[in-house]
Amino acid sequence: MKYDAENVREYYNKAAEKEWERLTKNRMGELIYNVHLDILRRYITDKDYVMELGAGGGRYTKEIVKMAGLLVTSDLSPVQVKVNKNKMRGLKLDTEIEDFKQLDITAMPQIKDASYDVVVCIGGALNYLFNKEKDGIKEMLRILKPGGKLILGVMSKIGSLMYYMDGVVQEKERFGIDATKWLFETGIQDEEHYPVPSRHYIHMMTSIELDELLSDEPVQVIEKSSAGLFSHVKEELLTEMKYDKELWDCILKKELAFTKNPGTLDCGTNIIYVIEKLQ
Ligand SMILES: C[S@@+](CC[C@H](N)C(=O)[O-])C[C@H]1O[C@@H](n2cnc3c(N)ncnc32)[C@H](O)[C@@H]1O
Repeated sequence: MKYDAENVREYYNKAAEKEWERLTKNRMGELIYNVHLDILRRYITDKDYVMELGAGGGRYTKEIVKMAGLLVTSDLSPVQVKVNKNKMRGLKLDTEIEDFKQLDITAMPQIKDASYDVVVCIGGALNYLFNKEKDGIKEMLRILKPGGKLILGVMSKIGSLMYYMDGVVQEKERFGIDATKWLFETGIQDEEHYPVPSRHYIHMMTSIELDELLSDEPVQVIEKSSAGLFSHVKEELLTEMKYDKELWDCILKKELAFTKNPGTLDCGTNIIYVIEKLQ
């Protein structure tokens, strides 16, 4: 399947405000959020000029703006850019943000080479690019200063298949075992095998694929993390656990620790790489 920017844009235009709720509506989202925030906090300083790509409604924007020296935030979907701006205005943070841009990570000709100290692209914009994944990586690295950092997050194939297994079972009934095998082999939910009404087509990735995408780039990966490991625990149980503050604090801390264990890298719903562009 080829990258179809219009289709992705339309999907996220329709999602509108729902994107803002994605990481707060359940405990799974909270766990993922916690791991990403920990990484953002450790790598972004108040000296950094930061570009956030694929920012969606702005759940991370509202935190990144407090960490960064200066922030530009952006998304492919004009509706998401608007939601983000409105949310930041509501939080009185909009004036702290240099610009709200509509940008496609596969081609950002309006952005000069080596502009930013940190580029953040988390939550899976890369998963939508298919044949343009390499273009996306090259563009994100192009706008980054040498020595700067790209914080890149994707949906993980193995962890997501485990998490969404009830959906996999239902879709096997609709689309057949060959489509299921294709999904397990490639992580790709595409129009040919999965003609779903939402037209949500995606390539869930493995860390091996991420490594391959970066293998001939002038970069060093300085941290690899999974996120959403305890998401595999039933949501009702997680909700119950949250009532017990000391237990929930323990879970949040242990999720941070276990996601840094190389053995868990592909087991969460997300994978995060911190990538340094070499001088
Ligand atoms: C799942 S949302 C994640 C939003 C936010 N980063 C987060 O983690 O909450 C994915 C976002 O990526 C954006 N996106 C998808 N493809 C993109 C592309 N080629 N360029 C820029 N943004 C893209 C979508 O519009 C959507 O807002």
